[in-house]
Amino acid sequence: TDKPIQVKLVLLGEASVGKSSIVMRFVNNEFHDNKDPTIGAAFLTQKCRFEDRVLRYEIWDTAGQERFHSLAPMYYRNAQAAVVVYDITKASSLDKAKSWVKELQRQANPNIVIALAGNKLDLVKPASSSGDDSEPSTPPATPHESEDEADDATATPEEAQAYASEAGLLFFETSAKSGEGILEVFTEIAKKIPIE
Ligand code: GTP
Ligand code: MG
Repeated sequence: TDKPIQVKLVLLGEASVGKSSIVMRFVNNEFHDNKDPTIGAAFLTQKCRFEDRVLRYEIWDTAGQERFHSLAPMYYRNAQAAVVVYDITKASSLDKAKSWVKELQRQANPNIVIALAGNKLDLVKPASSSGDDSEPSTPPATPHESEDEADDATATPEEAQAYASEAGLLFFETSAKSGEGILEVFTEIAKKIPIE
């Protein structure tokens, strides 16, 4: 039939990594530089089609601030998919992402499809507008002034990819700002959702 398949999807991750911005890019194709932190959670829906399937994502965009952590099980319970987000420019947010994955693997639906998304790719990599990869790339822009801060290390894609493979997760690097990688996250998840 043409009836869309309903897929409950939850976004989890540390505060400020860009969960709401990823959803805003996916749903409205918009980006805002100074987004307010989410309080509790936000609910949005968006259709996603690939080949002959139409999915309707029911998206729970959770709040990353620690005081909201205890609400999370309400949102990931019965979820068929999760996007666990970290900020590429903040290695400690990858540790937080790993702890969310652990919690999901213990307590969520055992068949849940989990994607790990390293966001804010635009801060470490110049925009790939031409799609020409043959030229030597220019050195990445420095994301922050305070590079000597211990907490401010950049999470390498190799480390994150290795972890994702080991843990059985999809892995993406995204930029809600440029839009890079965003559709791919939701399309690749869609491919892994079992057809009923
Ligand atoms: P909580 O709701 O508090 O959990 O935060 P969040 O994960 O929803 O983060 P949010 O989307 O509110 O983004 C936090 C800040 O990062 C905002 O100022 C965004 O504009 C910025 N931001 C989000 N995504 C990107 C990105 O891909 N690149 C850049 N440069 N900034 C981003
Ligand atoms: Mg938010």
